[in-house]
Amino acid sequence: MASDERESDPKTSLGRLTRRSFLSHVGAATAATAIAPLAHSLAPAQTPASENFSTPTLPGTVGVTLRVNGQSHAIQIDPRATLLDTLRETIHLTGTKKGCDHGQCGACTVHVNGRRINSCLALAAMQLNVEITTIEGIGGPENLHPMQNAFVEHDGLQCGYCTSGQIMSAVAMVKEPWGKTDVDVREAMSGNICRCGAYPNIVASVQAVRRMS
Ligand code: FES
Ligand code: FES
Repeated sequence: MASDERESDPKTSLGRLTRRSFLSHVGAATAATAIAPLAHSLAPAQTPASENFSTPTLPGTVGVTLRVNGQSHAIQIDPRATLLDTLRETIHLTGTKKGCDHGQCGACTVHVNGRRINSCLALAAMQLNVEITTIEGIGGPENLHPMQNAFVEHDGLQCGYCTSGQIMSAVAMVKEPWGKTDVDVREAMSGNICRCGAYPNIVASVQAVRRMS
């Protein structure tokens, strides 16, 4: 009997679950069990915005309220959703980019309470009662953040795919206790990969802002 026949046969499904389908079921149940009480226990007392919550409850989702760029977003999400996917696909802030989705490229860098993190490695449902900041939250075309300005002035980008992550990382980095040299900047920014190789101009952009502070 073919393996997909075995999986779809209800009489034998318990005895012959594949390893993949077993782990998928157990993983979903475990995540939902672990996170749902946390999200629901916080919802009534600490998220008054949820009173206006109009999204219908979907099976397998949890209700959470995330603070992003100073605004509250009451949303229903899969408890396994990453912060990156939630920002892009649920809150529709697409400035934060997905590169590797494995914590290796830095394209997804955002701030949580002012500290830089890889949003592809963070569960959205665990980001309650924190301030999340994305590239949209630090400045826009009419009011560029000094770091955005520096990237423009020093050509700190080529294709631009890594740039929002580079800028978010750089904004946090200038407040961290790093040394003054270009080597220090390269080390501090080593979690942000640029496939175009714009590194010299990225360093120049960061150093320009550091000299202003
Ligand atoms: S997409 Fe998050 S580190 Fe690459
Ligand atoms: S500017 Fe293209 S990947 Fe960095």
